[in-house]
Amino acid sequence: MEREQALKIVREQMHEKRYIHTIGVMETAIKLARQYGVDEQKAELAAIFHDYAKCRPIHEMEEIIKRENMPSDLLAHNKELWHAPVGAYLVKKEVGITDPEILQAIAYHTSGHEQMTMLDKVIWVADYIEPGRKFPGVEEVRELARQDLNLALLQALKNTISFLMSKNQRIYPLTFHTYNAFIKEETIG
Ligand SMILES: [Fe+2]
Ligand SMILES: [Fe+2]
Repeated sequence: MEREQALKIVREQMHEKRYIHTIGVMETAIKLARQYGVDEQKAELAAIFHDYAKCRPIHEMEEIIKRENMPSDLLAHNKELWHAPVGAYLVKKEVGITDPEILQAIAYHTSGHEQMTMLDKVIWVADYIEPGRKFPGVEEVRELARQDLNLALLQALKNTISFLMSKNQRIYPLTFHTYNAFIKEETIG
């Protein structure tokens, strides 16, 4: 699918602010893909569609999670997580994208997972560091992303987990599993 067509589709799914974020993620993902030898077209499409379900009503996402037998522990955790697996499902069903690598990168762009592909990592990090992001610690992750994608992702995970803990929020177990996998990769293996 061409970029213009993909952008036209997502534009109808979201408000202006989310669309501008999407453009930022797309541009960042293409740069990271080029830098780290990842398929640029897949990175572009995964980035464009990563937040496809972000603006869907909560009850619709909940209904899809139940109906499609997605991990039920999702429902006991932050609703912010839901649009990732639901997005992958809807992008396949409504847009007709079937590439499993693209769908996986969309499905795990909030939690990550233990065996992330380079494409998964590119989308996760691009979502975190796109130019519109302003939160504390983002500049450090941008700097790390220029040198080492794994270290950038690990730092971003640490920031995310620390932030959630500081707000007394629950942490989705898969986010911890992702963190542990990267710690292992960086310190042992
Ligand atoms: Fe998202
Ligand atoms: Fe996003």
